[in-house]
Amino acid sequence: PRPILLTRHGESKDNVRGRIGGDTALSDAGEIYAKKLTNFIEKRLKSERAASIWTSTLQRTILTASPIVGFPKIQWRALDEINSGVCDGMTYEEIKKNMPEEYDRARKKDKLRYRYPRGESYLDVIQRLEPVIIELERQRAPVVVISHQAVLRALYAYFADRPLKEIPHIEVPLHTIIEIQMGVTGVQEKRYKLMD
Ligand code: G3H
Repeated sequence: PRPILLTRHGESKDNVRGRIGGDTALSDAGEIYAKKLTNFIEKRLKSERAASIWTSTLQRTILTASPIVGFPKIQWRALDEINSGVCDGMTYEEIKKNMPEEYDRARKKDKLRYRYPRGESYLDVIQRLEPVIIELERQRAPVVVISHQAVLRALYAYFADRPLKEIPHIEVPLHTIIEIQMGVTGVQEKRYKLMD
C-alpha cells in the first residue's frame, strides 16, 4: 500500500494575526515546520522515487514545500483554501462585528452550505476537489499534499469515510502530518505532530 501524506502549510503571517484567506508568507515557526517536514519526508520517502509533492497555488504551501528537493512538485488551484469572498483578509472578530448576520446566523447555522458573499461554501470546495481525488486514487506512488485547513478537512473526510455534515468541524491541526494508508483491509491512519 502506498501512503498519502496530508499536511497544512506551515504557520503563515496571517495565521499569527488571525486573518483568514490572503496569500502571506510563513512566520518563523512556519519556516521551521518547512524544514522539519523536509527532514521527515526525506526519511519517510527515501526509496520512493516516484513520489510527488502537491501544493496549492498560494505562497504559504509553496514555501512549505520549497526546502524539499528530489521530488516533482505540482501546483493545483483546486487545493487553494476556501475562498472567503468579501471576508478575505478579515479576522473572525471583524466578521462578527461588521457582518453579524452573516457570521452569527447564517454560517453557524449551516457551515457546510454557507457560501461567503462572492466566495465559496464547503460544498463548493468538496465539488472542486473531485479531480484531485480522482488523480490521488490513480497514483501508485506516495503523494504529499500540502494544502489548507478547509480543503484538508474535505480530503481527509473522503479517505477516512467521515460524514458530509462533519467536514466543516474536523480538526486538522497545524504542523502535523496525517498519513493515510489505503490497503486491502481498509484505511489506516497515523499522525505525526512535528512541533507545537
Ligand atoms: O481560512 C479558513 C480556515 O482555514 C477555515 O476555517 O472554515 O473553520 O472558518 P473555518
